[in-house]
Amino acid sequence: KKISIIGVPMDLGQSRRGVDMGPSAIRYAGVVERLEKLSYQIHDKGDIEIGRPGKDEEASDDNLKYLKAVVKANTKLAEAVDQVVSAGDFPLILGGDHSIAIGTLAGVSKHYQNLGVIWYDAHGDLNTSETSPSGNIHGMPLAVSIGIGHADLKHIGGYSPKIKPENIVIIGARSLDDGEKILIREKGIKVFTMHEIDRMGMAKVMEETVSYLKDKTDGVHLSLDLDGLDPSDAPGVGTPVLGGISYRESHLAMEILAEAKMITSAEFVEVNPIIDERNKTATVAVELMGSLFGERLL
Ligand code: ARG
Ligand code: MN
Ligand code: MN
Ligand code: MN
Repeated sequence: KKISIIGVPMDLGQSRRGVDMGPSAIRYAGVVERLEKLSYQIHDKGDIEIGRPGKDEEASDDNLKYLKAVVKANTKLAEAVDQVVSAGDFPLILGGDHSIAIGTLAGVSKHYQNLGVIWYDAHGDLNTSETSPSGNIHGMPLAVSIGIGHADLKHIGGYSPKIKPENIVIIGARSLDDGEKILIREKGIKVFTMHEIDRMGMAKVMEETVSYLKDKTDGVHLSLDLDGLDPSDAPGVGTPVLGGISYRESHLAMEILAEAKMITSAEFVEVNPIIDERNKTATVAVELMGSLFGERLL
């Protein structure tokens, strides 16, 4: 089986510089070597070119920072991901801030009737320009992908919506804005907050996730925001939230997904080396990829 890696050095979907260095940090943490050991054939396709926004571009009276630049980069990413899936390879996307999920899903979802999405994150990323407290597009990709948000974002890849609300599972949520809570209820999106993880245990949460998605989807994308983990385990993220998923629980989650043989594409996002401690967060990302792709302790 072949894995194609695409780096997306995007930092314009949020306000802290440095997350554009995420793909390099993950490469230096040894992603290619790690997955080759599991006898995958790895094609590192390099990085999508992001470019820098024009001087006047941030100013956004519509509460969407760097909209044009984000649309442009995600359009390129969608094409690159589309090619990888068409070639029959597994797309592994390295972020970059979470706004890149818009492009990843645009490229992946046209190949499926019913793509499932596991959103492993402290946040819901279900804001629109109306509900966003920040105007940061990395807080909007899941809303965009179900067809809610600015038209230029929704129509990346030439179609909308990319996914159905009932095919989504959010895991690890502990910071949801008011508008996001309303949307979750309105759309009936399945969410395992930290409360459920504490109460049921990660094994049960993942087993329920697998059985929730198994029969109704024909592929499942894993969108893993490193801020889903506790900041003590993954300090190198721009929007850390206390009380997160542990390192150990995260390995267990990845191992259960590996056993279920369910994941057909994945992205690891929000690694910010400037904020990190000696590349700890990128290293955690690579270790979790190991478990996701079948590594076992014995
Ligand atoms: N909800 C907040 C916002 O909309 C934070 C979003 C954080 N998103 C992320 N991908 N880290 O600004
Ligand atoms: Mn940058
Ligand atoms: Mn997040
Ligand atoms: Mn996120």
